[in-house]
Amino acid sequence: METTNQEVMTLPRIGEAAPVFNAVTTQGPINFPSDYSGKWVILFSHPADFTPVCTSEFMTFASMEDEFRQYNCELVGLSVDGLYSHIAWLRTIKEKIEYKGMKNVEVNFPLIEDITMEVAKKYGMIQPGESNTKAVRAVFFIDPKGIIRAMIYYPLSLGRNFDELLRVIIALQTTDAFSVATPADWRPGDEVIIPTAGSCGVAKERMETKEEGKKCYDWFFCTKELSEKKVMAEIKKK
Ligand code: BEZ
Repeated sequence: METTNQEVMTLPRIGEAAPVFNAVTTQGPINFPSDYSGKWVILFSHPADFTPVCTSEFMTFASMEDEFRQYNCELVGLSVDGLYSHIAWLRTIKEKIEYKGMKNVEVNFPLIEDITMEVAKKYGMIQPGESNTKAVRAVFFIDPKGIIRAMIYYPLSLGRNFDELLRVIIALQTTDAFSVATPADWRPGDEVIIPTAGSCGVAKERMETKEEGKKCYDWFFCTKELSEKKVMAEIKKK
């Protein structure tokens, strides 16, 4: 077999255990994902410290940290920069940057130093078509059992939509808590999808079963009402 010196890049997959690693962060050492057992965690990468898109993203993430915490969700950042660069950048953000009404922003969640790119490579964050030397903007949604439940990758030039990241966390927790699925653009309070049963016969029978708040568009597509109050009572920390 022909051998090449091209490195094998792994891409994590939905439904599989989050790759394990130990690292140094701005908040001390981290053992991932075991330190987050029992919590949801968003592990995300950014291309480089001291860059504008990343700065706008960090300020937004830091401003939303408490909101994510209300859903038992912690944040962990990563770039292939070193610890001293991370510390200097976060200090600059706090002391100097005022952006869209955010100022004096303190980033209290850990930011991983990954100068060897070991973690970035494990998580498929280095995508050579985009850059060999910087991580793309990856986002991994990891559940309390350490399983990857969703992931989103963005290119270097595209800042993330943080409302969407929060929406994904809320939707994942809702689907778990109520054994339902969520339709396009779902938000808490919108109708949810009743998962289709295994066979057409069962689904047809269920379509004919009357239930308050249930609506069937066809035998394979039934929804039911689920109030925002019920969703929040189940998933939001008191
Ligand atoms: C930025 O965060 O602004 C950025 C970083 C790397 C490449 C392009 C933009």
